[in-house]
Amino acid sequence: MGFRKSGLPSSLAEAAAGTGRYYGTAAQIEQVDSQPDLRAAIVRECAWLTPEYSLKWDAVEPEPGTHVFAPVDGLVRFGDTHGMKVHGHTLLWHRSVPAWAERILSEAKDWGVIRRHFSAVLARYGQAIDQWDVVNEPLEPGHRDDGLRQNVFLDAFGPDYIRRALEEARIQAPAARLMINEYGLEYADERARRRCLLKFIEGLKAAGAPLDGLGIQGHLDLGRGTIDATSFGDFLAEIAALGLFIVVTELDVREADRQLPVAARDRRVADAVRRYLDVALAQPAVRGVITWGMTDRHSWLSPSTAGEGLATDTARAPRDRNRGLPFDAAMHRKPMHSAIRESFLAASR
Ligand code: XIL
Repeated sequence: MGFRKSGLPSSLAEAAAGTGRYYGTAAQIEQVDSQPDLRAAIVRECAWLTPEYSLKWDAVEPEPGTHVFAPVDGLVRFGDTHGMKVHGHTLLWHRSVPAWAERILSEAKDWGVIRRHFSAVLARYGQAIDQWDVVNEPLEPGHRDDGLRQNVFLDAFGPDYIRRALEEARIQAPAARLMINEYGLEYADERARRRCLLKFIEGLKAAGAPLDGLGIQGHLDLGRGTIDATSFGDFLAEIAALGLFIVVTELDVREADRQLPVAARDRRVADAVRRYLDVALAQPAVRGVITWGMTDRHSWLSPSTAGEGLATDTARAPRDRNRGLPFDAAMHRKPMHSAIRESFLAASR
């Protein structure tokens, strides 16, 4: 990890460590293995890794009882070789339930399916990975009074499925830190989501559920204006007051205007990230920041529309490619890299 002549750390991992935090990235081992420049950047910049999708249920167990562990094994090994930790993403997510499991869950409502999934994954990775998103994106306010998302787990087991999942994870990985991971918490018009989440976490805590931390995805969107520092900071403080630690788990920036000159686009992205992280890192409970990838080469954000794209699209025309990650497609540092670094450095002063 490099230091500049000034003595200030130049890598994000070093800058983060200076304030007792960590920096990392989501990654796919196939890309790490086939792209030496990506590999080098990750080794230099990161202390943590999140498997971008290889640990999701439909990737790990596409057919009942047939497990695909090689990509996660590879990422864990890569992390181990370079002293990086791995964030377990994710045990339950409504969008990554394999079709066969969805069928059993909706027909038989059998918790044994969940238990077997957890035990297969945690028996293999419960030691190597000690921090887990047990449930991803459980909220969807506007439908039910409690704000929980209507999904196959809720349909099968009722709102208690989240507590049960946490208990199940605790039993099978007793030493791991267990988290809920959620999106859409940063903008001022997300008051309802924040309220729901706080109320829900209070309920979980009151019921004695083993919940240790909250993941805030941090998918920023320049089309939604700027972060309201006060309400976002207050929200983080309320989460911390409930005894949870916080991780920014999936930071990236969706651009609003790709017709601007590149320098202006990169400035806007960097400014949004700086503003966001300055608020987040002012909260001592925030332990780390993970970006949802390192380079625009692999952004999951599609061009021009609000939808999602493929995780890899090197063929995209430069103007179509979203520029919301720390490195550009040629693996050069962008102003977003400086914004993250400076925000960590400012937090350690
Ligand atoms: C995305 C991945 O980046 C894609 O490759 C995959 O096809 C779909 O999922 N919130 C999450 C992540 O918690 O798991 C999602 O990752 C992005 C949104």
